[in-house]
Order: sequence, then structure tokens, then C-alpha cells
Amino acid sequence: MSQPVKVLFVCLGNICRSPVAEGVFRAKVREAGLERRIHIDSAGTGAWHVGNPPDRRMTATAKRRGVDLSQQRARQFVADDLEDFDVILAMDRSNLRNIQSLDTSDGFNERVSLFREWDPEPGDQEVPDPYYGGPEGFEHVFDIVDRTADALLDDLRRRY
Ligand code: 4NP
Repeated sequence: MSQPVKVLFVCLGNICRSPVAEGVFRAKVREAGLERRIHIDSAGTGAWHVGNPPDRRMTATAKRRGVDLSQQRARQFVADDLEDFDVILAMDRSNLRNIQSLDTSDGFNERVSLFREWDPEPGDQEVPDPYYGGPEGFEHVFDIVDRTADALLDDLRRRY
């Protein structure tokens, strides 16, 4: 049997957007019975929150909608992640640039994309940072992540 495909979600702090993407996607993968085929993690390009659980506002929104984030702890994205993961998904363009700045290959790494490239309603292809906003921002992030994770899982099932 081939190796599992490794998927990494990346935002700035690894306490709001990428943890909810990890948690929602993990729940869908488990429901599909694919947890041995798809390995999932998340990271932040910044180090401020390393070791911390996700933001309690994000955890509360996810819990209300059936997804447990409580066991997650933030870690920083490292250059080795560019080798270790097959699919690296940035939440916004700033995250994408931060990832690419650690990439010593020829500058075009096909493993790295914007997460919302898979969104059937992609808008500007960025997951808005909810950190400094109100509660509706966390609901909006959950909605985006939920539908994009469905499309991502469909695509990975076709490709791997
Ligand atoms: P995240 O949100 O990138 O979705 O985890 C943020 C969390 C913390 C900060 C910024 C964004 N911060 O500046 O500490």
C-alpha cells in the first residue's frame, strides 16, 4: 500500500484559521474512513502562540458546530514542512508569501497553494483573519472552511 498523503494547513498564528481547517478536515476524513490514508496537521508562520491551544472563540464556534479543537496546540511552520508535506494550504496570500520565503527550491513549489482554490465560492481566495474582529467573523471562517474542506476531500480522493 502506498504512503498516506500528508496535508498541512497554514495561517499566521495557528490559533484560529488553520486549527479549524485541521479539525473540520480531520472530522470529514474520519467520517469517510480515510484516516489511515490522509495525514493532517496545521502550523502558523508566526511564533507568538507556539504551544497554546486554539483561540477560545474559534474553539467555541467549532464546538457548537460539532468539531473538537481542544487537543490542538500551536506550532510554527518550518522549512522542513516543505519536504514533509505533499499538500500545503495557505489561508491567505500573506501566509503564502511567508511559506515561499522559506522555500529554497527554484521558487515554484507545486505543493503550496491557497486553501480557497478548492472553494466552490472562492471570493478573493483568502480566508479572512478573524482575530481582531467580532464573533460573526469566526462563523464566517467556519462556513468557508466547511465547504472548502468538502471539495478538497473530493479532490484528494480522486488524486491519491
Ligand atoms: P490565525 O489568526 O492566523 O488564523 O491563527 C491570528 C492569530 C493571532 C494573531 C494574528 C492572527 N496575532 O497577531 O497574534
